[in-house]
Amino acid sequence: MEINLRTLPEHYSDYFYESLLEELPEAFIVAEISGKIIGYIMCKTEYGFSNFKKLGFVKKGHVVSVSVVEEYRGKGFGSALVDESIKGVKIRQCNELYLEVRCSNNDAVKLYEKLGFIIKQKLQTYYRDGEDAYLMAIEFTS
Ligand SMILES: CC(C)(COP(=O)(O)OP(=O)(O)OC[C@H]1O[C@@H](n2cnc3c(N)ncnc32)[C@H](O)[C@@H]1OP(=O)(O)O)[C@@H](O)C(=O)NCCC(=O)NCCS
Repeated sequence: MEINLRTLPEHYSDYFYESLLEELPEAFIVAEISGKIIGYIMCKTEYGFSNFKKLGFVKKGHVVSVSVVEEYRGKGFGSALVDESIKGVKIRQCNELYLEVRCSNNDAVKLYEKLGFIIKQKLQTYYRDGEDAYLMAIEFTS
């Protein structure tokens, strides 16, 4: 929660964190070094229209939030967190994983593209401050 407050403009209630941990512990992951938490990812599952198949109704994972503290960025922790969450949502039989990311957040967009996510849509004025988001998604074949 502290990392979220320090590194992202979108914040959540204690209850929200607890409910995500309860709902999908396999994809609620923290990165720790010598007992200090330096990053986290949390996800949820949803049923809805596929980001890949026309008119397909699927079970999808949704990355709610991911962050690594500034001092530890660029060392592979972000990729490892997203990779682990992919495994976590696959355990729950999700066919896809998607997320929203600020269009200006080049580091994050590159990370997701490196892991196989594709920009599927641009969501106009998605954030409270008016910035647009990319909806990025990955489909699982196995
Ligand atoms: C996005 C974020 C989680 C990435 O974490 P990270 O630990 O730095 O990521 P990694 O070290 O695994 O980097 C993965 C890839 O992202 C890209 N990337 C990461 N940092 C980068 C940088 N400073 N410049 C360019 N590309 C970068 C690269 O493609 C990199 O792959 P490579 O190392 O093979 O070149 C981190 O920058 C962060 O916490 N940002 C603030 C919070 C945020 O924006 N979260 C995402 C909201 S959607």
